[in-house]
Formats: sequence, structure tokens, C-alpha cells
Amino acid sequence: MLTVNFILADGSKRAVQIAPGRTVKEAAEDNLIPGVLALCGGTCTCGTCHVYVGDAWVERFAKPSIDEEGLLEGTAAERREGSRLSCQLPLTEDMDGITVTVPDQQQ
Ligand code: FES
Repeated sequence: MLTVNFILADGSKRAVQIAPGRTVKEAAEDNLIPGVLALCGGTCTCGTCHVYVGDAWVERFAKPSIDEEGLLEGTAAERREGSRLSCQLPLTEDMDGITVTVPDQQQ
């Protein structure tokens, strides 16, 4: 198991546990983290699972696909350097302690 540290839109923090191989979106959903809507269920077609991955972690993931890049251009909250779609972020053991900020809007 590894820990994902979510920072919510109101500034509060929630640390959750999840098994390696699952995604940041699943970590949010399984633990009822507010603000990650994920309306398409993780098929990279909605853009409502937008998160900001912490600077120290964002380079550990594979680069966004063309589909993800397109959706990131239209997110409700501003796109920032760490912007990613959480359904496209499978977690690995070495990401224990990752920090993920939830934006203040998804639609
Ligand atoms: S859940 Fe729809 S794009 Fe991630």
C-alpha cells in the first residue's frame, strides 16, 4: 500500500491508502475525496478528474497522451504545470507520499 496526500479545494488535507497499480482517480473515489467527479468513469473522455500533481511527483508519470492533452486544454479550473487527469495516473510503490491537489471546480 502507498499513501496519497490529497489537498482539497478548501485547503484541508486527507491522506489515503491505496494499492500500487491503481490510479489517483481511484484513490479519490474509493475514499470519497470531494471535487474529483470523473464522470466518464476513467476512459479519458470527460476531463472532470483534473488534479494538480505536486512538483516533486509529476515527472514520475508517463507524459499525457494526445487525448489527455486535449482535455487538459479545456478543464474548468485553470491548467497549471502539474495539471493531469487523475484517471490517467497509475500509482507505483515508489510514489508513496505523493501530493495531489484537487481544483476548486471540474465543470
Ligand atoms: S475520469 Fe473522465 S477523463 Fe478522467
